[in-house]
Amino acid sequence: MDSSYNKNIVFLFLLLTTNLLTLFVSSVFYSSSCTLSFSTTATAAANATTFRLLPPEFLAFTQAQLLPLGFNRNFGSDTIHPPAGSGCALFSDELRKFMSYKVNGSCPDDELISQKLLLKGCEPLPRRRCRAVAPLKYSEPLPLPDSLWSTPSDSSVVWTAYTCKSYECLINRSKTQKGFDDCKDCFNLHGRERNRWTSPKSNGLHFSIDEVLGTRKPGTIRIGLDIGGGAATFAVRMRERNITIVTTSMNLNGPFNNFIASRGVVPLYLSISQRLPFFDNTLDIVHSMHVLSNWIPTTVLHFLLFDVYRVLRPGGLFWLDHFFCVEEEFKQVYKPLIQSIGFRKVKWVIGKKMDRGPGMKEMYLSALLEKPLNNSW
Ligand SMILES: *[C@@H]1O[C@H](CO)[C@@H](O)[C@H](O)[C@H]1NC(C)=O
Ligand SMILES: *[C@@H]1O[C@H](CO)[C@@H](O)[C@H](O)[C@H]1NC(C)=O
Ligand SMILES: *[C@@H]1O[C@H](CO)[C@@H](O)[C@H](O)[C@H]1NC(C)=O
Ligand SMILES: *[C@@H]1O[C@H](CO)[C@@H](O)[C@H](O)[C@H]1NC(C)=O
Repeated sequence: MDSSYNKNIVFLFLLLTTNLLTLFVSSVFYSSSCTLSFSTTATAAANATTFRLLPPEFLAFTQAQLLPLGFNRNFGSDTIHPPAGSGCALFSDELRKFMSYKVNGSCPDDELISQKLLLKGCEPLPRRRCRAVAPLKYSEPLPLPDSLWSTPSDSSVVWTAYTCKSYECLINRSKTQKGFDDCKDCFNLHGRERNRWTSPKSNGLHFSIDEVLGTRKPGTIRIGLDIGGGAATFAVRMRERNITIVTTSMNLNGPFNNFIASRGVVPLYLSISQRLPFFDNTLDIVHSMHVLSNWIPTTVLHFLLFDVYRVLRPGGLFWLDHFFCVEEEFKQVYKPLIQSIGFRKVKWVIGKKMDRGPGMKEMYLSALLEKPLNNSW
């Protein structure tokens, strides 16, 4: 037996100790009959371990819950299994920290640990029965439309998880700090953010919002999603055109979600791994800049692109903005991958990515893709 087989057994064992089993048997292992017979025999043995490994609040949350009014035809069941990510059980130490609190008390100030847990695959995080940490003296946001382009008050944020402890520090960060920090200069609303997507630039990779909207009948792009939208300037620009955009973002060393909400557009705290919480064929536009790129495992990206295709309505637009990778990878992997999903190309521009030097042979793709109006299944 090779080691990956052994790993699978350990993994399965951990799963068996939780209510996630049902979820997993149906989603991953359904086709494997040997797994199913294994699962029934291992349940009892795993039970003792269950309570040592996993925190009681986690089990309380994920436990099967009977519907008080009995069998529900919509569910096809009399039971709910409240969901938590399949990865939760793999990180029992962190999960124990996350789920240790006094019920009906205050939650620990633990944004970092919860975000790590989430990014590794414990997504959705389980709910908690405690009150999240809040700023001591909260300042209410500015009224619209002033909020769209104003730096929010520092007292709208719990700063514990970040190296910066103020918006001024975050704004200074682009000037003072070398090295990589996600979206380093996007808290400065008077710098680069001010001009994003307002006019096309010479290298062709920067489409403008008006140019993209101009490819459709006026008014037909109304609602959409920006994946990994940083400070949500895309959503703000779209709001100025009466288009509603929801922006997904993590809080990677900065209070992105608070900032987005303070500006007056909707943040969605969701990683790139999770199924998009929208129904099939509903959104007019999905945009993503810099995020969907070669740092994402190819299989994850493949699922993700199909999910974008799913939530877009027929005729909807996918604006893949500055996707980056190494030139050779593009030919071998990404170009065929992106082309295989079924989108129609409206615009497709390739350019060199030079910020790490020409020796890296990196490149960008900016594409405007359309889900076909007919036969788009
Ligand atoms: C597992 O153990 C718990 C507590 O020790 C017990 O209440 C439960 O009935 C056991 N379940 C099974 C399937 O053995
Ligand atoms: C829950 O906490 C609130 C606020 O501290 C308190 O007023 C309430 O009595 C508590 N309820 C229970 C059942 O402990
Ligand atoms: C930000 O930069 C300005 C000017 O360089 C400086 O005066 C100020 O102290 C800095 N603030 C913080 C919080 O770093
Ligand atoms: C947005 O909607 C408002 C209210 O309906 C309208 O007055 C305004 O002209 C619209 N703006 C744009 C750019 O369409």
